[in-house]
Amino acid sequence: MSTPTESFPEAEIIQNTESNATKGAGALVEWFRASTQYINAHRGKTFVVALSGEALASEHLRNLVSDLTLLHSLGVKLVLVHGARPQIDAALTAAKLQLEFHKGMRVTDPDSLAVIASVVGAESIRLEALFSAGTTSSTSAPLAVAGSEALTLSRGNFITAMPIGVHNGIDFHHTGRVRRVKAAAIAKRLEERTIVLQSNLGYSLTGEIFNLTAEEVATELAIAIKADKLIFLVPQEGVCDEQGELITSLNPASAALAAERFSASDIDIDKSLGGALKACIKANAAGVNRAHLIGYRSNGALIRELFTREGAGSLISDDSLDTLRQATIDDVSAILSLIRPLEADGTLVERSRERLETEIENFKVIELEGAIIACAALYRTSESLAEIACIATHPNYRRGGLGARLLQSLSAEAKRLGIEKVFVLTTVTAHWFIDHGFAQGTLDDLPEQRQALYNLQRKSKIFLKSV
Ligand SMILES: CC(C)(COP(=O)(O)OP(=O)(O)OC[C@H]1O[C@@H](n2cnc3c(N)ncnc32)[C@H](O)[C@@H]1OP(=O)(O)O)[C@@H](O)C(=O)NCCC(=O)NCCS
Repeated sequence: MSTPTESFPEAEIIQNTESNATKGAGALVEWFRASTQYINAHRGKTFVVALSGEALASEHLRNLVSDLTLLHSLGVKLVLVHGARPQIDAALTAAKLQLEFHKGMRVTDPDSLAVIASVVGAESIRLEALFSAGTTSSTSAPLAVAGSEALTLSRGNFITAMPIGVHNGIDFHHTGRVRRVKAAAIAKRLEERTIVLQSNLGYSLTGEIFNLTAEEVATELAIAIKADKLIFLVPQEGVCDEQGELITSLNPASAALAAERFSASDIDIDKSLGGALKACIKANAAGVNRAHLIGYRSNGALIRELFTREGAGSLISDDSLDTLRQATIDDVSAILSLIRPLEADGTLVERSRERLETEIENFKVIELEGAIIACAALYRTSESLAEIACIATHPNYRRGGLGARLLQSLSAEAKRLGIEKVFVLTTVTAHWFIDHGFAQGTLDDLPEQRQALYNLQRKSKIFLKSV
């Protein structure tokens, strides 16, 4: 039989499709292998996930439910706390009832409470229905074998509430705060491998219903059950800096600054992000080590944040006290002492102090308690290409993800500048860049003037990555 391409052109299409499929499968296998360490790390851990009413109303809800089911299937103990603010506003308006807020807190008078209770109940039921569906997302990934025990949700009166009361003459009626969380009852449900579903409603010891914020319920619940993670699914990508660049990790101090910035905004979703940040800081301080803000509008962001090194959202934790920032002229000496040993062993090309001083704006550094522990630079070489260079982590701080954060931050910076691809020249670190999604290229892939600077003796390998 002759080779397919000569006599059967469609064979070529099949071949291409097959090779694309194999490539696709290859990438999936690579990704899955790389996620093993995270699957092991998360198994048996308890995550409290806050789903705002906006997230429930979004077109991404089915995918979120799929991702949450996957987490459960991978052995994570899940508590879902949902709100219903936009749904409540719509129902109160439809019922011709007033929407009354003071200092951002809703006044829940008896008439409103009746509407609120039915709306919140309906949202809980809708979620239960979604988790009960055999298949759900567009990929028709099997969610749960219909009727199987594997995916059971449990609800209950887990939250004891108390009234907010009267403030400045304003009676908030059935607007309340969390008084107590029935942590043991929740833990028991989680041990039975059910997903605990909690709404923003709580019940008082007087038997009354109180309207709480899902944010407060999620935070107090996470603290009470000593959760390993508190996750807020937010409309934004996560916490972004003034240039719109995602900040992948914040320590409580930088989170507090960001919370202030967002809470001062006139935009509602920014204010909510400020509130979620404050809740993360509170939970952190009370022992919930890791809190995440993850975008619900980005398909699969939850999975990418939890199962990839790069992540896809913002982590607030006290683990890292370091700060990733723009370098300044004051950092030149510290950067030189960091890179000199690497220049000496040939890992990095030599850079004079004068050159570093003139190029310092291209550098970012990671500072820990005043010491520069990692650095990297971004050089634009054409309209669509930029070089990442001089990436180095102090030996004492390696394997902590600092290099990855710098790479991610510079790639995001490049993207913000409208650059399509970043490239690196390396002699001894090829596999690390491959780990981070770079693919080998050739000198021809570089802009002419960069080709002219290529050191033929050094024979660095060239790797590129789309941003
Ligand atoms: C490469 C480097 C920047 C990574 O910094 P880091 O802060 O340790 O980065 P991360 O924590 O994100 O990554 C650590 C992982 O990279 C791996 N790694 C480090 N150097 C590597 C190399 N040369 N080749 C392959 N993998 C490497 C580590 O083994 C570790 O892998 P693991 O997570 O599977 O244990 C750091 O090792 C370094 O400063 N090396 C010397 C300078 C250098 O090579 N710079 C690049 C020149 S082009």
